[in-house]
Amino acid sequence: MQYKVKKAVFPVAGQGTRFLPATKAVPKEIMTLVDRPLIQYAIDEARAAGIEEFIFVTSRGKGALEDYFDHAPELEASLQAKGKTALLETLRSTYMDSGAIAYVRQHQALGLGHAVWCARHLIGDEPFAVLLPDDVIAADKPCLQQMVEAYAETGGNMVAAMEVPQEKASSYGVLDVPTAISSVMPVRGMVEKPAPGTEPSNLAVIGRYILSPQVLTHLDGQKRGAGGEIQLTDAIAQEITRANNVHGYRFEGQRYDCGSKAGFLQATLAFGLARDDLRDELEEFLFDMVAMRQAAQ
Ligand code: G1P
Repeated sequence: MQYKVKKAVFPVAGQGTRFLPATKAVPKEIMTLVDRPLIQYAIDEARAAGIEEFIFVTSRGKGALEDYFDHAPELEASLQAKGKTALLETLRSTYMDSGAIAYVRQHQALGLGHAVWCARHLIGDEPFAVLLPDDVIAADKPCLQQMVEAYAETGGNMVAAMEVPQEKASSYGVLDVPTAISSVMPVRGMVEKPAPGTEPSNLAVIGRYILSPQVLTHLDGQKRGAGGEIQLTDAIAQEITRANNVHGYRFEGQRYDCGSKAGFLQATLAFGLARDDLRDELEEFLFDMVAMRQAAQ
């Protein structure tokens, strides 16, 4: 059995309507978290986990995303001429090996399962990772790397999991697990966006997956699930029925939902405060801001 995970799929076809009007002109994945586009965080996490092939599932209007990963010879030459070596390094750290990125189009917005299925010919018959760039995870050891290490022991399929407040569980894929105490848990069932009150637990799926190619076969059925969409969760759940080989992985780290405005702002503050060059100024500003608001109440 082959356990090395070399390919990763990045579903980036969403229209990002929650961030209109910004996303009228800029793909959501290019929106900036401190000074790097959202997608760069997911790419760096995948690289740290040993991923060598990066498959983007895109859609109309995502040209800026493809350009972002191109080399920038004019910019490079001008930074070089000015002796700006630190910036040059930053620029070069975003370069990808030739041929390492492939793009496939999702022609219709039919759901996350459908987006991943669009990459099936590039994935072939090997395990692969899926990273949802909206979920940004700050961790000492990057989340996907934690999962790749755990997966080397389990094989099968693995989904990242996190406890969420019960009232929020219906916004996620939710796991049915025997106990929620260990970091790796066998999954007995999973349900996408359960109706409030029917959640099997408060353990939610977060956007990191390591999947077997069988999941793609299940997606061939194109069955519609929650919200009328073809759901990745449902295809993974079929693997539980077929082979009982799905694990939930409770990662170490802090997850930010950059698909929501509040989550994006929280991530901006947290990542800003984690930076040596920004911490003091930002912290001072936040203290003053809070004090001013309290005084005004
Ligand atoms: C997707 C998945 C869901 C998962 C969530 C994590 O939902 O379908 O199972 O819990 O990502 O962010 P979406 O946020 O696209 O509605």
